[in-house]
Amino acid sequence: MACSIHARVSQSRARLFVFALLGVLTLAGCTGIQSTLEPHGPDAQRIATIAWILFTGAAVIFFAVTALAGYALFAVPTRRGWIASTKLIIGAGVVFPVVALSVLLIYTFGVAGALVGGKDSTPLKIAVTGEMWWWRVHYLDASGHPLLVTANEIHIPVGRPVELSLATADVLHSFWLPNLAGKLDMIPGRVNVLRFTADQAGVSRGQCAEYCGAQHAKMAFYVDAKTPLEFDVWLAAQQAPGQTPRTEQHARGRALFEPHCGACHTVRGTPAAGVLGPDLTHIGSRRSLAAGILPNNAGTLAGWIASSQHLKPENRMPSFADFTGEELRALAAYLESLQ
Ligand code: CUA
Repeated sequence: MACSIHARVSQSRARLFVFALLGVLTLAGCTGIQSTLEPHGPDAQRIATIAWILFTGAAVIFFAVTALAGYALFAVPTRRGWIASTKLIIGAGVVFPVVALSVLLIYTFGVAGALVGGKDSTPLKIAVTGEMWWWRVHYLDASGHPLLVTANEIHIPVGRPVELSLATADVLHSFWLPNLAGKLDMIPGRVNVLRFTADQAGVSRGQCAEYCGAQHAKMAFYVDAKTPLEFDVWLAAQQAPGQTPRTEQHARGRALFEPHCGACHTVRGTPAAGVLGPDLTHIGSRRSLAAGILPNNAGTLAGWIASSQHLKPENRMPSFADFTGEELRALAAYLESLQ
């Protein structure tokens, strides 16, 4: 008997430990480069505050309701009668929810209005278009004309308000950038505007948050907030045409790229001028391939060219399985040189 009690106690201790561990792991998953709970700017801070208010409120209400349910089930019948009183039912069941939800609604409307209604007259204007399954990114000048186009990566200066015009080229997508700006849908036929400011340098990850087809989960992007000086250097470099080949292998890669890839991809300053896929003028400078799904290096570039349909089925780029190893290495080396 003593043995079985002892076993039960250690079993419940083990369970408690597992729950505590799960709790810690779950909370650990809430921080990092894609997290509402780690804001990198005032706008994301407002959303994080909402998240904490909702989480705390929901937790308090959950425990109160659980305690009341336990009391209703297990208390002595003569003592638990007050739970069925009309006062409690109307007060806690009608008045409290109406008041609490109305206050929350007004508060969140205020925050949402502040997020889309920034009044800065000289924001950095960027147009982001969701496509199945990647992000086309146009940097615009003050009057809204395109300065340059890139993909799957947005660089911004710390401290300067950014104004994103969000649109879609096909189906519904949703631009979700929790560390900096929250989430806004990209709706066919509409342009939605999202404004935010980063107050610290660093890389954040964003993700499509509206189901948009087979590769919705593989539709990510990075936002790199840098000092204003670093940003100006980056912007100037990105406006330059593609790097001319410096080695024989790069020249070989470019000679293969133009006839095979130029109908869909652009490398500015070369005959490759397709607009169906991402602009690759500075592909070598980006941190990821295929909208955040692979690190960007010669190996993954070659693998993506040869097997894009295996890595991201149904995406619009066919697998080029007929290239030889030597041809793939040349193409990858050329693309990697496009810094
Ligand atoms: Cu785009 Cu989900």
